[in-house]
Amino acid sequence: MKKIIGNFKMNKTNSEIKEYIMNFVSKVDKSRAEIILCLPSTALSTAKYLLDGSGIAIGAENLCDEEGGKNTGEVSGEMLKDCGAEYVIIGHSERRVKYRENNRSINKKIKIALKNRIKVIFCIGESLAEKNLMKTAEVLKTQLEDALKGLYENELENIVIAYEPVWAIGTGKIPMNKDIEDAVKTIRKVIADDFSNKAAEKIEVVYGGSVDNKNCGSISKIKSINGLLVGGACLDPINFCQLIRDTKA
Ligand code: PGA
Repeated sequence: MKKIIGNFKMNKTNSEIKEYIMNFVSKVDKSRAEIILCLPSTALSTAKYLLDGSGIAIGAENLCDEEGGKNTGEVSGEMLKDCGAEYVIIGHSERRVKYRENNRSINKKIKIALKNRIKVIFCIGESLAEKNLMKTAEVLKTQLEDALKGLYENELENIVIAYEPVWAIGTGKIPMNKDIEDAVKTIRKVIADDFSNKAAEKIEVVYGGSVDNKNCGSISKIKSINGLLVGGACLDPINFCQLIRDTKA
């Protein structure tokens, strides 16, 4: 079954989340996909309470790259787990660009998430300039190798790689299916070289960047991807339910 991940970004207050979830749960066809809602930290406890036993998983959108102590304003892996996070997005390009997250910090975050038994949705992707310079494969390789450094092969079972070209996020532009296939091939080759062929076959790779109700059917036909990461198009519950229905199982 494909994974469909909603990334709410910095949207929705607690009361809005409550309304969203009531609406969403009553209409969504859960047999179509494994659904994960990645929410602002402030909404996790509310979502945990409302989604308990629903089969819909909850994710966070970030965590601190240290485990505790003097980090005013940060949220630890342990705190996220306690609030119900089963997944956490790490390395989103908005965090890499706006908050200057680098691969070293991303590597630390991945290790902390796994230590706290939180599965990782690890985002990678090239910028427009890198794409134009035909550097996509090189960029993906570096992002993967730096961030997965020191991990054991069995830990990859708890990591989903999200291929999200930076130029496709929130722009309405999407790569050709062939380009997504090539990127996924690159990702699996790096995993095969650094871990094993078995790990490369097994690792889940999803696509994200301007996925909407019109293109989800076509993108989800790509055999080598295991799902979709959806930003803007997940914010309306009715719209998101329709997208889930229209995604190829
Ligand atoms: P988008 O966002 O679907 O709005 O492009 C995707 C993401 O940022 O994960």
